[in-house]
Amino acid sequence: MKTSFEEQIHAAVREGYGAIAQTNQSCCSGASCCGSSPEVAHDLAVKLGYDPQILESLPEGTNLGLSCGNPQAIAALNSGETVLDLGSGAGFDVFLSAQAVGPTGKAIGVDMTSQMLSKARKNAISFTERTGLSNVDFRLGEIEHLPVADASVDVVISNCVLNLSPDKPQVWREIARVLKPGGRVAISDLALLRPLPEGATELVNALVGCVAGASLVETIERDARAAGLAEVKIGIKHNYVAVMEDVGDSLYQQILSLLPPGQKMSDYIVSTDLSARRAIEPCENDWHHEQQPSGNGPGGGDEARLTSENPQWHQSSSCCGASETGCC
Ligand SMILES: C[S@@+](CC[C@H](N)C(=O)[O-])C[C@H]1O[C@@H](n2cnc3c(N)ncnc32)[C@H](O)[C@@H]1O
Repeated sequence: MKTSFEEQIHAAVREGYGAIAQTNQSCCSGASCCGSSPEVAHDLAVKLGYDPQILESLPEGTNLGLSCGNPQAIAALNSGETVLDLGSGAGFDVFLSAQAVGPTGKAIGVDMTSQMLSKARKNAISFTERTGLSNVDFRLGEIEHLPVADASVDVVISNCVLNLSPDKPQVWREIARVLKPGGRVAISDLALLRPLPEGATELVNALVGCVAGASLVETIERDARAAGLAEVKIGIKHNYVAVMEDVGDSLYQQILSLLPPGQKMSDYIVSTDLSARRAIEPCENDWHHEQQPSGNGPGGGDEARLTSENPQWHQSSSCCGASETGCC
């Protein structure tokens, strides 16, 4: 059951993105998470590292300038993989993923805004005409309750969406549920280095603009680990916020005016590239560790993190490949 807070946030987000989908217009000016003109959207995507040539392959109206990173760059997609894009909008990263995984793979987009979904499905028709690929599937749904089977996805991607969720720990649990054992996460999102001043979090367009709902970097990492994901790595990037400041985005200007004198948006907000993996489940008695971790993490606390830099837990090589059924 959703709380009224969750209902309210979902309603505000649906309203904001429903309007963007219908008008192709920004709710703010310039390039922002709120949407922008095709030219500004194209420039922003190139600045975020998308290949201009690949962008040409996309149907018109697919890139609405709603991205704040480039999950394709961290996903390293392979032919034949199944990719799931959380909050797929008009299908931008879904169409790019579909080309990367090819005809034997599949790209699924989930979005809760029906107008966005209609736009993505219309774009899918032009995509198939242009590329001959029919490996995309757009589903209406909330990322807190994904319409996707357990352990059915190789890679979960997302671009500037998790910050919009009123229940982020639940989103991370859903990500862990739908990933195959060994499956990976490649998510770009906005995050906070420190809490925003109160006035900023109350602006509705700051919520729709992907700023007000952003979590602290350490909270994102904690939520991902608590859902059971391993090898969680968060890269902090300042380029997106710098672009927003440069183009004089009205939302960023408005928030800037609420900050104490001398402080910049980039002191508060950054774009992040997050990668993680669903661990391959162990056979019973198949895990051992070299030292007893302490605290409340997966067998330990934050100081006992399961990162490749700090591999305190080791899996025996006897079994447990990455299969849909888990292990053994
Ligand atoms: C900032 S846009 C990003 C769209 C797309 N990822 C892109 O880069 O073009 C956010 C999208 O996420 C969707 N969204 C936001 N919250 C959601 C939720 N809780 N469940 C499903 N979709 C959501 C919105 O409808 C919107 O289409």
